[in-house]
Amino acid sequence: MSAKPTIYLKDYTPPSFLIDTISLRFELDETATRVKSQLQVRRNPQAAVTRQLQLHGHESVELCEIKLNGAHLAADAYQREAEFLTLLDVPESFELEIETCINPEANTALEGLYLSDGMYCTQCEAEGFRRITFYPDRPDVMSVFTTTLVADASRFPVLLGNGNPVQRGELDDGRHWVTWVDPFPKPAYLFALVAGDLQCLEDQFTTCSGRQVTLQIYAEAKDLEKLDHAMTALKNAMRWDEEVYGREYDLDIYMIVAVDFFNMGAMENKGLNIFNTACVLAHPRTTTDAGFQRVESVVAHEYFHNWSGNRVTCRDWFQLSLKEGFTVFRDQCFSADMHSAVVQRVDEVGILRTAQFAEDAGPMAHPVRPASFIEISNFYTLTVYEKGAAVVRMLHTLLGADVFRKGADLYFERHDGQAVTTDDFVQAMADVSGRDLTQFKRWYSQAGTPRLKVSDHYDAASQRYQLNVQQSCPATPEAQQKLPFHLPLSVGLLRADGSSFVLKDGKTTQLLELTEAEQTFVFDSIDEAPLPSLLRDFSAPVKLVYGYTDEQLAFLLSHDEDGFNRWDAGQQLSLRLVNRLIADYQQGKPLSLPDTFVATWQSVLQQAPQDPAMAALLLTLPSEAYISETAEQIDPLAIHHVRHFMRCALAEQLESSWLELCRQHDSQSGYTASAADMARRSLRNLCLSYLMVLESPAHLALAQQQFETADNMTDQFAALISVAHSGFRDSADELLAEFLSQWQHESLVMNQWLMVQATDPREGGLARVQQLLEHPVYDARNPNKIRSLIGAFCQQNAVNFHAQDGSGYRFLADHILQLDAQNPQIAARLLTPLTRWRRYAADRQALMQAQLQRIMDKGQLSGDVYEVVSKSLC
Ligand code: ARG
Ligand code: ZN
Repeated sequence: MSAKPTIYLKDYTPPSFLIDTISLRFELDETATRVKSQLQVRRNPQAAVTRQLQLHGHESVELCEIKLNGAHLAADAYQREAEFLTLLDVPESFELEIETCINPEANTALEGLYLSDGMYCTQCEAEGFRRITFYPDRPDVMSVFTTTLVADASRFPVLLGNGNPVQRGELDDGRHWVTWVDPFPKPAYLFALVAGDLQCLEDQFTTCSGRQVTLQIYAEAKDLEKLDHAMTALKNAMRWDEEVYGREYDLDIYMIVAVDFFNMGAMENKGLNIFNTACVLAHPRTTTDAGFQRVESVVAHEYFHNWSGNRVTCRDWFQLSLKEGFTVFRDQCFSADMHSAVVQRVDEVGILRTAQFAEDAGPMAHPVRPASFIEISNFYTLTVYEKGAAVVRMLHTLLGADVFRKGADLYFERHDGQAVTTDDFVQAMADVSGRDLTQFKRWYSQAGTPRLKVSDHYDAASQRYQLNVQQSCPATPEAQQKLPFHLPLSVGLLRADGSSFVLKDGKTTQLLELTEAEQTFVFDSIDEAPLPSLLRDFSAPVKLVYGYTDEQLAFLLSHDEDGFNRWDAGQQLSLRLVNRLIADYQQGKPLSLPDTFVATWQSVLQQAPQDPAMAALLLTLPSEAYISETAEQIDPLAIHHVRHFMRCALAEQLESSWLELCRQHDSQSGYTASAADMARRSLRNLCLSYLMVLESPAHLALAQQQFETADNMTDQFAALISVAHSGFRDSADELLAEFLSQWQHESLVMNQWLMVQATDPREGGLARVQQLLEHPVYDARNPNKIRSLIGAFCQQNAVNFHAQDGSGYRFLADHILQLDAQNPQIAARLLTPLTRWRRYAADRQALMQAQLQRIMDKGQLSGDVYEVVSKSLC
């Protein structure tokens, strides 16, 4: 298995044969599903002539029968290897019939056809279709699919496929069948089927041209009450795509199905999205505000794929960001329009700057368009998704909204029905703008996070201000030397009174275009020495260094008109203090907070009621993950200790303000999911979390009361976590037990319950996690459970995971070895924290490396785990 070859983008060749139509018939059976496929095949006029037809097929697929133009193929007319079926001599065009047998029940990898809690479902992206039948399983082979599903009528009353249902009937033996036709040619990765005992919420949408579309969201009967939010999100997304991109939905029916066993968030199969329950079910009683927002954005994301992904798809998997980067950008803009744009931007930059920057600095670093891979599943990454979105955002910034829209129109028009590349996308943008974007394309081919070093000079006599910018980019596995990037640097200049200078075109924000390794920008008629506000709205995915004083950061924090930069000035101010305190801690010095820092927070607290959403962001210290990413060398204990110290000191010195704010933002009139109410809850719960670190019985009572009386999960869960992670151990245990008995039948709430305990920073974390692995609510086969317990412990409980004795590392390696045979995708993903070993001190490095080596030595690894471990060790 670990002998899987590396695949290179430079080796791409067009498919030798095309499949005009495929007709599939599934006789569903738990252990022996029969799949009959009938293909109309013809030689690809664009490809080199060959008489050999190579089809993909996973080793688990049993070949039962194969016929060419109606005649059985002799055994010497084809070859069956582990991953392929090769027909040795085929005519120019012909009909191929293949019957295979597969075992959904044994499919624990959750790729291809599998069972989720007794219902059949599929996941074919990226290469799952080859686990169903023999087929050219590559995205540039697009075909018209007809699917017939046959299953027991009483156990599987609902049978769903892509496209529109065209015929149904009953058989004598208690089975029934439905035939679906999808008129849009598509790659196999967009194929889907579902069979189960499901209920659905139904609604209608009238498109901009007046067509009626039926919307259905399917779930188990018990979850029917949790589908309203996803339905609203879907209708909002459909309207938004019409208004902002002029894109209309194209089938008569759009279906979403919720399944509990799913490796990722959701999947955009044509007309039949399949969703992880965690990304579609939402109800105020059981779902937090963060959960509500995730559902809205994932529903929108998958819907937007209907154009950016399905109508125009990827030529090969190196182009994954063509659909994912663009679609994430689209869903980010949608969320910004639905809620507060600044909060949305802060959230997305938070992910990019902590997790994606860390990926870019590690052994798995790769360009947005990777040049090679062993296992494509390993490349559904923050780089392809989030950095890919940041690259599309830069095009939007450089070209402006109107020209960008024209470029998107041209791209969709030019490539509708095609499988294309990121170059094609950029070319459409170049053609509408008349600009040369050749250099810009380096964002797709060079990995690593660029550094910008900015310095400035003001000359009072000539009223001239100059900004000097130097860019560089660290080496990454694919390249030592990097060429300069083309990027938009948005800047403003502040006067001493806090107002912004009016710059070019009467605007207060000016777009500087960086293309050289070093460049100087000149501003004239600047009549007083300005303070620069740099990289406004995080206009490029870079690390920017400028020598601000603490006072200047505090000034930006209170005056910058750019909301994102206001927030970031606060973060940078806190980060500096964190770093000073870490040094003190490491030298055994006592820790203390400067009065000026406390005063800054005091004034933010005072102004909080004016903008609770912004205040909740400003009053949150940089996360342990962000502190780690920016650290020279990561000292998990020091980081945790210092951050906790700062929270305690701020809580203590500003106690009455926290308490006052907490009271002011109490829920008076019951729950609503409005942006204003979400902001109120987030500020109140933040205040509560500060108060709880004081370990005062009065605040404990406040939290307990909130836990008991909350009418929504956001408030109840916030109270739970604040007590569960506090020093009140008995109360923590009581609340956890109460929460368990209240919600034990709600699987998604139990994920949260596992997560609270997995992320508890108090001593003894590993032992608690090990106990929970035995708990009845845990399920070692369910990815959501694995992520909530093992994933959360290893990624969000640094003090316990990085225990000096290496027990956390050994624990993770044990589980990866165990999981690899069951679900390679999940196993490879869990590895992430170990891949970062070079960022720690020598003792931890040795312990982490030893566990990676132990995994490597086991041999017989999946390609997924092999790729991550081998790249991490070299
Ligand atoms: N295309 C899906 C999305 O919308 C991701 C599915 C990938 N799944 C996988 N198992 N690799 O982002
Ligand atoms: Zn996607």
